[in-house]
Amino acid sequence: MTAEYDLKSTVRTIPDYPKPGIKFRDITTLLGDARAFRRAVDELVQPWAGSKIDKIAGIEARGFILGGALAHQVSAGFVPIRKRGKLPHTTVRIAYSLEYGVDEMEMHVDAIHPGERVILVDDLIATGGTAEGAVKLLRQIGANVVAACFIVDLPELGGAAKLRAMDVAVRTLMS
Ligand code: PRP
Ligand code: HPA
Repeated sequence: MTAEYDLKSTVRTIPDYPKPGIKFRDITTLLGDARAFRRAVDELVQPWAGSKIDKIAGIEARGFILGGALAHQVSAGFVPIRKRGKLPHTTVRIAYSLEYGVDEMEMHVDAIHPGERVILVDDLIATGGTAEGAVKLLRQIGANVVAACFIVDLPELGGAAKLRAMDVAVRTLMS
């Protein structure tokens, strides 16, 4: 049994959520399993062990759960990227495309200092619209986006390839 298989077995699939025909990959079961959660955190940032990372940027909502743990793991600060209207200080904002429609995300304008080395994290990459928007926002305020990390990749939707085409290293733990 491979390590990937072990971790994969802790992610639950919910049929017909949030809409009929969609198979929802639910990582709450991985998060609730102490060994799996620790392993996922260790493996997500393993390629950057020993290199300086200034900030982990987490995408609302499940990227926050992983992001806090990753920031602790690599001794970095944590920066939240939130849906529009949730952050109290001056923000930068970008529209991004979802599978159906568009939304807007924001981060604090002073959350990152120009040149800081940042790893982006979320639970899952599908079309990559969300992560692409996050990378653009980070670069807009001068971040050096070293990598983007996700537990689950849905490769047929092309998100990881989209990020690699933007010169972002992509790390995922299962497909
Ligand atoms: C999910 C997931 C990613 C995004 C991936 O979040 O957590 O953020 O979709 O899809 P994409 O690669 O096609 O952009 P969702 O938009 O459902 O928001 P939530 O975290 O508030 O549930
Ligand atoms: N799980 C979580 N987020 C998602 C999914 C999924 O299966 N598909 C698109 N965003």
